Amino acid sequence: MYDFKPATPLPAAELYRELVAAAEALTAGEPDAVANMANVAALLWEFLPDLNWAGFYRVGSAKNGAGDELVLGPFVGRPACIRIPFGTGVCGTAAKSGATQLVEDVHAFPGHIACDAASQSELVVPVLRDSAVIAVIDLDSPSPARFTAADATGIEALAAMLSDRI
Ligand code: SME
Repeated sequence: MYDFKPATPLPAAELYRELVAAAEALTAGEPDAVANMANVAALLWEFLPDLNWAGFYRVGSAKNGAGDELVLGPFVGRPACIRIPFGTGVCGTAAKSGATQLVEDVHAFPGHIACDAASQSELVVPVLRDSAVIAVIDLDSPSPARFTAADATGIEALAAMLSDRI
């Protein structure tokens, strides 16, 4: 049994240090990207309160051959849209720009894709390998302005650690 959930509420910096350490331990020596993303999605769900979706979209080939798009990966939450073109919605914007998207009010974000009507705020962090976006980590919350700069910094540290593990 793995029991990685923090015992007590922690300040953000410490919480993310523990989360990244747990993710590093769970994925160490495992070459299967899907297994690693599945366990990290479960860890995000265990560690972070007030989420309604936590998981991955990976960069993949569009079905019609028209370049790359995001394809749904392992996650915890309600079933979600499967394919997102680069530049569309919060995830597609993060993938296209390579920049973290911290969205306090998803309804105010142009092109936001509502996978779960409960979502009010969102944090999307690209995972880069050799300067190219290979995936994004997506967190959704039912609370407005749930995510802070500390969350963005913490998830960026997780994304950097996962770069060659997913
Ligand atoms: N809201 C996202 C789509 C993915 S779901 O939230 C799981 C977006 O606008 O890109």
